[in-house]
Amino acid sequence: MFSFFSVFSYLQWLTLAFSFVLKPVALDNPQSSITNEVETPSSGWRITNTKGKPLTGRFLHITDMHPDEFYRDGATVDHYCHDYKHASANSKSSKAGFLSPGPGFECDSSPSLINKTLDWFSKHIENDYGGIDFIIWTGDNSRHDNDNHFPRTKSEIITSNEKIVDKMIETFPDVPIVAAIGNNDVYPHNIMEGGSSSMTQALAGAWDALIPTQEKHVFEKGGYYMVEVIPHRLAVIAFNSLYFSTKNAAVDGCPKKDPDDPGSFHIRWLRIQFLLLRQRKMNAWLASHVPPTRDQWYIDCYDAFADLLYEFRDVIVGQLYGHMNINHFVFLEFNKPPVDTSTLQSRDLEVATAQPKYVKTLIENQYGELPFVPDKPSSKFMDETVGKFSLASVGGSIVPEMFPNFRIYTYNTSGLNPRPSDLDGNVVVSDSFPKNYTSLVDELFEDKTTEDNEDLFISNYESMKKNSKRKKKKKKNHRKKKIQPGALGPAYVPMTFTPLSFQQIFLNTSDYMDATSETEVDYKLLYDSRDQPYNMPSLTVPDYMRLARRIAGVCESKKKKKKRRYREITYTYLWHAYIGALPRLGDPDDF
Ligand SMILES: *[C@@H]1O[C@H](CO)[C@@H](O)[C@H](O)[C@H]1NC(C)=O
Ligand SMILES: *[C@@H]1O[C@H](CO)[C@@H](O)[C@H](O)[C@H]1NC(C)=O
Ligand SMILES: *[C@@H]1O[C@H](CO)[C@@H](O)[C@H](O)[C@H]1NC(C)=O
Ligand SMILES: *[C@@H]1O[C@H](CO)[C@@H](O)[C@H](O)[C@H]1NC(C)=O
Repeated sequence: MFSFFSVFSYLQWLTLAFSFVLKPVALDNPQSSITNEVETPSSGWRITNTKGKPLTGRFLHITDMHPDEFYRDGATVDHYCHDYKHASANSKSSKAGFLSPGPGFECDSSPSLINKTLDWFSKHIENDYGGIDFIIWTGDNSRHDNDNHFPRTKSEIITSNEKIVDKMIETFPDVPIVAAIGNNDVYPHNIMEGGSSSMTQALAGAWDALIPTQEKHVFEKGGYYMVEVIPHRLAVIAFNSLYFSTKNAAVDGCPKKDPDDPGSFHIRWLRIQFLLLRQRKMNAWLASHVPPTRDQWYIDCYDAFADLLYEFRDVIVGQLYGHMNINHFVFLEFNKPPVDTSTLQSRDLEVATAQPKYVKTLIENQYGELPFVPDKPSSKFMDETVGKFSLASVGGSIVPEMFPNFRIYTYNTSGLNPRPSDLDGNVVVSDSFPKNYTSLVDELFEDKTTEDNEDLFISNYESMKKNSKRKKKKKKNHRKKKIQPGALGPAYVPMTFTPLSFQQIFLNTSDYMDATSETEVDYKLLYDSRDQPYNMPSLTVPDYMRLARRIAGVCESKKKKKKRRYREITYTYLWHAYIGALPRLGDPDDF
């Protein structure tokens, strides 16, 4: 296969080979200047992921697989690709293929699409893409409950989760996999009460192999947990956005007056994780299903979460979400309400999510309104302006409404020199904590906040809550000034763990309408973030802010608004948001 990637590897090899002869090597091609060599200190110490695999500087983000056991080759798309007699079946409607019905239909993933996708991973991720260090998997491992001829049950959801978790582990035996709960991983969908519940216990069973022992208790309580993917260095926190979701009628949305609301509680748990990670000089990715947008999250949850993002910007590397099926990014700004994307059609089923209006509104209301970030911003500007923004990336899905797709990210692994804790195999997590982790979390759940760890529990959020009566009369945006943010971390400044690039890899299902069980499918590169027209030097927040303004067509200068001009990059971004599965969208002004 003479793919883009073999060209890339070849160039890397060339760079390496000739660097002995010609120094320094300065290539204009940005792809060649970013290498992912992991340092191997002379001691022979070699940094690995939690499963002992040497680091590659890459990870996988995958989401919304929605395997559907009732999918039938030849069934009509009017019936979600399910096979049953129905009077209204339109004989002219498209029919499901063996693999998929092609893009544009509300069908979930056929078992063969899931099998062939995982087969492809086994064959190609290590061999053609250089391997990965960990997987962030943002939920929905069961089909949609959209067909009343085939009502979905709780046990079906659990079985579907068990099967797919087993397959993922089989496919990636030496890679830690961190899964977050999707709104279709619970019964009924979207609804989740505070735990422990039979739902969280059943999921804990299905996900048993993914959840570290010390986290099982927490998971049963709240469906969230943390995994160290690189020991002592990097964690992924799978948080439970169902507690923040406006579709979850079983919770109250992080009300300040009720610290026992599962969402308020979850915010406190998150804060403890960040404090502990900061103490241990660790960084973390945040992973969850429902992205933090205005229509999808309760506003109080959003506010409290945005406070955490700002306070712990030294710890947090980035945020990855699923749920929406469209690839895009959205910023959260500290102390500001979420961007108005009210044209988002809020549907019960997120399958039919062709929502160009949502992306367009996002581009206009947020991307186009961002401050101009110069190429060499002052540290004051970085700290006070850029540092108030954080980035949420929403991934496209495997479910074939668009073309099935996922991302392989590269990140910076240089600067990982051994620490005492790396060399002493006996160091356990609890050694570096003021109290051991399990007891800390137990106390949180039992709400027995003792004097000596009170500082861990009292956040700005909580003191804010305590004073909420007094402050109610004050204007809302005066209340948060006290938060002391951490130094700018890898999300903002190039350093260890800074995300560098991603490859958007997709399966053109239109090419496989005649697929059979024998057909080998080939996922291909749709684009690389370093390619035209994006040319992203890396994936820091300032890089994304500059990109966002280009997408919005606002001038790259400080001058006040000229009229916006959509450019090629705007169309390309929209086309890529839908994985190239929709015909090129017309002029955004016509949406
Ligand atoms: C998918 O793979 C499983 C084994 O992992 C197998 O039992 C099943 O028959 C396969 N289904 C299809 C449609 O290929
Ligand atoms: C952690 O705390 C629990 C509960 O307080 C206690 O039983 C356990 O012995 C502690 N473990 C360590 C390693 O200190
Ligand atoms: C990668 O990390 C190293 C060490 O932390 C830093 O010096 C370098 O600038 C970083 N490079 C990028 C592209 O992020
Ligand atoms: C997918 O395949 C179809 C049929 O070969 C082709 O017309 C279309 O351009 C392809 N789409 C992408 C994004 O490659």
